Amino acid sequence: MEAPLARLRKRCDVTVHENEFGIPRDELMQVVEGRDAVITMLTEEVDAGFLAAAGPQLAVVANHAVGFDNIDVAACTAAGVLVTNTPEVLTETTADTAFALLMAAARRVGEGERLLRAKTPWIWGPLMMLGQDVHHKTIGVVGFGRIGQAVARRAKGFGMTVIYADAFTLPADVEAETGAERRELDDLLAEADFISIHTNLTQETRHLFDAAAFKKMKPTAVLVNTSRGPVVDETALAEALESGEIFAAGLDVFEREPEVQPRLLNHERAVVIPHLGSATVDTREAMGELAVDNVFAALDGARPPTLLNPEALSS
Ligand code: DGY
Repeated sequence: MEAPLARLRKRCDVTVHENEFGIPRDELMQVVEGRDAVITMLTEEVDAGFLAAAGPQLAVVANHAVGFDNIDVAACTAAGVLVTNTPEVLTETTADTAFALLMAAARRVGEGERLLRAKTPWIWGPLMMLGQDVHHKTIGVVGFGRIGQAVARRAKGFGMTVIYADAFTLPADVEAETGAERRELDDLLAEADFISIHTNLTQETRHLFDAAAFKKMKPTAVLVNTSRGPVVDETALAEALESGEIFAAGLDVFEREPEVQPRLLNHERAVVIPHLGSATVDTREAMGELAVDNVFAALDGARPPTLLNPEALSS
């Protein structure tokens, strides 16, 4: 993160919040006052209070994430504040994370590692810790945007059949590249051996995966979520795992981060990692560079490369 920060410092008077645990809200309200630009993390809520605290000179909020459910974009637009995010640069890395979770959950990697670390006596056995095959199975991708499509390309390499659910049918060339076929969500839930979630968090997708959804899935199904935690009802997921309604889950994100539902923490078939989807050195650096590009463009009165609210340009 040094390079983007150094570039920012060359041009701007920069205040950085260094604490690993995020900036407390009252401190955030103080520090944004009088700023022309703020680079936010997904942990910072940008709402009417934030905009009022910052003041009318605020030109841009550059979110250091592709997801922007922490930002009230309509309020920013009304205040004439540009909002940007960091798409593309983290697509492949996040898809890698989804696939790592998928493999780990299907093949019981976490459980096996815990067994060895606990020094549990064991010996190879033909029925020991059997998982689910990944290759040549069917994967259902829910939300077939950039990251969903990158997961589909990986799945194709494993000889998997790819189906997807999305509000839109994709252009034929995208379907051809990934070999993916569109399904209604309910049909996808019933047909898929693996389900990987890549939707944005909206009113419509909050708890999209609830008790009713788990009931439609196969008992051998594996659910992977690298999008946003609240898309999955964690209590319902814990129940689905405990009752054997589904086989396993791989989770990068949680409903009430940093809290993780204790029943999931206690379940051997839940593979849980702390929101590491885009957490590689190269990708975080690229996200930082893109956030800085967005800030500089806004300060120059130009259109930022990954602007979310072009309507705000004219206000
Ligand atoms: C994002 O970009 O939205 C991720 O969740 C964090 O990198």
